[in-house]
Amino acid sequence: MKRVIITSGPTVEPIDPVRYISNRSSGKTGFQLANEAKKQQIEEIIFITGPTYYLPQGVTLVQIETALEMREQIHKYRDTADVIIMAAAVSDYRPAHNALQKIKKTGTTLSLELVPNPDVLKELGQQKQPGQILVGFAAETEDIYKHAKQKFEKKNLDFLVLNQISAENPAFNVDYNQVYFVTSNGIEQLPRLSKTEIAGRIWAKVRLLREGKQ
Ligand code: CTP
Repeated sequence: MKRVIITSGPTVEPIDPVRYISNRSSGKTGFQLANEAKKQQIEEIIFITGPTYYLPQGVTLVQIETALEMREQIHKYRDTADVIIMAAAVSDYRPAHNALQKIKKTGTTLSLELVPNPDVLKELGQQKQPGQILVGFAAETEDIYKHAKQKFEKKNLDFLVLNQISAENPAFNVDYNQVYFVTSNGIEQLPRLSKTEIAGRIWAKVRLLREGKQ
């Protein structure tokens, strides 16, 4: 593998100069994926991340804030990437307007209009290069197998890492997680593992998929 792209962290979508909408992604999974990637024979690890405390060393670091910025940066590098792992929690929506001045309170209700962000992973699936391995993540709360299978196919993925979000398995901002691996061979349930161990298993699966594609 010559070049891999890992995306990580949340995106931050501005409302005005002091406010934004975002999500609870800590960036721990992406960080562990980068650290595991350093143990492989990879020439360049491109790490594209939203604001997070977890920034790995020894990578090409690209820091972004919004989903649109993330998309722009990925598209710069994607054609030559052997593997793309979309671990970032990209915001599905952004405020329709980013106010130039701070929005003042009025004492009545305030509605925020949101517009959809592009689905970056889906775009990557549509433009996948020969031999390229595309890995996505999914967070589901109900009908998880059905939704995961649909996402796997709709986004033209090689590998989907499925999180079942529940009170027992919050997945966000924790060190341990229980995930499922979805590939064209079916769904595999992993035991509860540390995010470091999960990152190692993800790379092991990516290597197998690469061997199958070459
Ligand atoms: N993703 C993306 N661009 C978006 C939203 C998500 O590239 N605008 C990627 C994430 O990086 C992740 C996967 O898609 O790899 C997760 O998608 P998820 O939010 O679980 O599902 P959605 O496809 O957004 O569908 P839904 O919210 O309806 O479950």
